[in-house]
Formats: sequence, C-alpha cells, structure tokens
Amino acid sequence: MVSASGGLNQQRVAICNAIALASFLNATLVLPRFLYSIVWKDPSQFGDIYQEEYFMNIMKDEVNIVKELPSHLKSLDIEAIGSLITDADIVKEATPIDYLTKTLPLLLQNGVVHFLGFGNRLGSDPLPSKLQKLRCKCNFHALKFVPKIQEAGSLLIRRIRKYDAAQATLDRQLFGEFLTGSPSNKHDSARGSSKYLALHLRFEVDMIAYSLCDFGGGEKERRELQTYRESHFPMLMERLKHFMPISSSVLRNLGRCPLTPEEAALMLAGLGVKRGTYIYLASSHIYGGKFRMHSFTNLYPNLVTKETLLTPSEVSPFRNFSSQLAALDFIACATADVFAMTDSGSQLSSLVSGFRTYYGGGHAPTLRPNKKRLAAILSENGTIGWNSFEDRVRKMIKDGQSVRIRGFGRSIYRQPRCPECMCKTY
Ligand SMILES: *[C@@H]1O[C@H](CO)[C@@H](O)[C@H](O)[C@H]1NC(C)=O
Ligand SMILES: *[C@@H]1O[C@H](CO)[C@@H](O)[C@H](O)[C@H]1NC(C)=O
Ligand SMILES: *[C@@H]1O[C@H](CO)[C@@H](O)[C@H](O)[C@H]1NC(C)=O
Repeated sequence: MVSASGGLNQQRVAICNAIALASFLNATLVLPRFLYSIVWKDPSQFGDIYQEEYFMNIMKDEVNIVKELPSHLKSLDIEAIGSLITDADIVKEATPIDYLTKTLPLLLQNGVVHFLGFGNRLGSDPLPSKLQKLRCKCNFHALKFVPKIQEAGSLLIRRIRKYDAAQATLDRQLFGEFLTGSPSNKHDSARGSSKYLALHLRFEVDMIAYSLCDFGGGEKERRELQTYRESHFPMLMERLKHFMPISSSVLRNLGRCPLTPEEAALMLAGLGVKRGTYIYLASSHIYGGKFRMHSFTNLYPNLVTKETLLTPSEVSPFRNFSSQLAALDFIACATADVFAMTDSGSQLSSLVSGFRTYYGGGHAPTLRPNKKRLAAILSENGTIGWNSFEDRVRKMIKDGQSVRIRGFGRSIYRQPRCPECMCKTY
C-alpha cells in the first residue's frame, strides 16, 4: 500500500514509483491513496483524478493491482506489526537493494507493507531497465485524467485557442473523448486558431522567502519576508545564526533567486514574444498579486488563467480541490504551443516538460532559463543595449533547450529520451 503525500505532481511520481517497486518486489499493489495535506487541503483520491479501471487495465500485465486490501489483511494493525514505512525509514532516491534488505523481509513476514508519504523514495540509477520501462509506461500511458477533468481541460484550451483544435497526440492523450476537431463557430474559424504560451511563474511567498533574496520591494518586502521566515522556517532561521549573511546580489549571481514577474517578462520580450500573445499563467499565488504582476501585464496584456477562461460555474466543481485545479494547469501547460518555466526544480514544470518531449513530436518547445546566466545578463542593465540583450537571452534559452538523452541519475519523467522510454531517442 502507498499513501502518497504532496500535491498532484508529487503524487504522480509516487504512483509510478510504487508501480516499479511493486513489480520489483513481486507484490500486489493496492490502488494508491493520497494523503490529505494541510497545505493542499484537497480530499481527492485516485479515482477523483485518474481513471481507475483504465490504470489497472493498462498495467495489468506487469503489476497486479487491487482496489482494496484483501479482508484478511485489512484487520491487521499495520503500524503495530511494524509494516508502516514512513519517509524517515527510507533514504531519498533509495535503490532497489535498500528495498530488498529493509522492505522485503517485512513484506514476507507480515504480508503487507504500507508506505506513508513515499516522496522521492526511489532513485533513478542504477535501476533495472524493466523498472524504468514500467515508470515510463505508468507516467505516459496509464494515468489518464477522469472525464470531468478532461472535459474542463478541453474547454479551457478551446477558449484560449478560440478554436476546437485537435492538435496532436498530446491532446488525444489529455482529452480522451472530449476532443473535437471542428471550429466552434464560423467567426472563430475565419480568424483561425490562436497560439499561446503557457508560463509557470513560480513566485510564491514560501519559495521566495526561503531563497533569502531581495526582490526589489524595499523595506516593506524585507519585513514581510522576514516575518514569514520566522513563522514558517524556524530551522532555516536557526541555521542562519551560524553563518555570515550572503548578500542578495551574490545569491542572484549564483542563480539562487527565483525569477520575478518582471524578469520573466523581460526574458519573454528578449525572445521576441509579441505583445498580443496569449499567455496562460499556471497556478501559483504570485507574491504581491496583481500589483506585482503590473509590469508583466503592461507588457503582455493577454494574460489568462483558468479562472479567467472558465466561468465561475464551470470552475466551481473544482474549487475546493487544489489537485484537480492543478490538473487543469497541467493540461494547459502540456498542450501549449510554447511552455516556459522559471524554476526547473518544480515538479509541475518537470513533468510537463517530460510530457511535451514524449508526445510533442519535437514540436513542443520548452523554455528553461538558466537563472545564473540570466542574472549575469540582467546585472548589465546599466550598459547593455537591447539587441545584445536579445542575443544573449536567445542564446541562453537555446542552450537550455537542446534535446538531451536522459543523463545518469536523471528522472525518466522529466527526460524520457532514453531506450527504456522513447524507443526512438532522436
Ligand atoms: C520476483 O519473481 C521473479 C520471477 O519469479 C524472481 O526472479 C525474483 O527473484 C522475484 N523477486 C523477489 C524480490 O522476490
Ligand atoms: C468549498 O468549501 C467552502 C468552505 O469549506 C464551502 O463553503 C463551499 O460550499 C465549498 N464549495 C464547493 C463548490 O464545494
Ligand atoms: C541593475 O543592476 C544593478 C547591479 O547589479 C542592480 O543593483 C540593480 O538593482 C539593477 N536594476 C534593476 C532594475 O534590475
């Protein structure tokens, strides 16, 4: 059994890691459950987000999956018999050997083990290629969103593209039967479909407070972030007492500061993204809200979100379910003509870019700024001319875009180009 912690995307990784692990241990997998988190506040379970039967059916030849624990095991107190395994019991990126020595004996003795959390608990290399294949199959083929999410996702995309566009394999994968190929009305069809760029701009209070960087908001911002750190990151504050403070400009030059909305806008402008471009802004509560987004929207007024594209009554079935809302963002980002991220460490950006590599047929570009290089370029703000700014931003993005074969230790979800996942790797 697995009870996965985290939001939608962490859970997705946990599910596919659980598939690989169950196969490795020759164990039956109980349909994964999702832990309720006070951060995400979403009671959704597997079947509220993914198609259960479809999942079980696609994986059935490799892993036996059941919906419930059989009755003779149900009555056990799993914790009391020592079969509850938390993230503290297993190292991050654990290897199969770790599971053979620690988990298998428990499984054989008690007939059941329950992983609680299971975040990031199965590493990438070395891993038998059969298990990598299973992860790949699980992530890219077995997890289909439920019709309710597919339908809203499809509606969202139709509204942005102003056209019932059946783009490609990527859309079929995401929308299932809610894919229609005809323009929604004559007017739209005459105008043609509009392309859009999806942006995952991570500028949330927790990550910017944690970064210890300065974001140009003056004394008010400094005080606010300091207060936030004191109440949310006591361990960080404790650690800081023992070190010399590092200045914000040093941190920025090291590439440690999340991009601000202003920096993201500059990057897009440097790449030649036109003012009229529709930009879908994924999730995230931007620190400073509308006010902080002001210069961005000045430059790019056609900024849309799921909340602006869908009517309140269309959003309301999802309102209290952050994972289901995140699924809509996942769809809008995965299917965008261009996807831009500001933080390559984010699970959403990482899974979306993997999806675009896998299903995009080489036509689904992902823009990955290198924060360190961008900081170096922006630090010349007093002297750099626009043309040279453009050249350098373009070069930075181009270097980050080069199609790569999965490197050692890299996640197959993010970099599916490898023999175990995409048969043709180029
Ligand atoms: C699982 O089954 C296979 C095939 O029967 C066997 O080779 C392997 O050793 C088993 N693994 C475990 C962990 O029991
Ligand atoms: C969402 O939750 C709030 C507060 O918990 C509740 O008042 C509201 O009715 C819920 N909305 C939906 C659509 O379930
Ligand atoms: C311009 O660069 C200088 C030096 O790095 C920095 O102090 C200043 O904040 C930058 N200004 C803007 C608007 O980014």
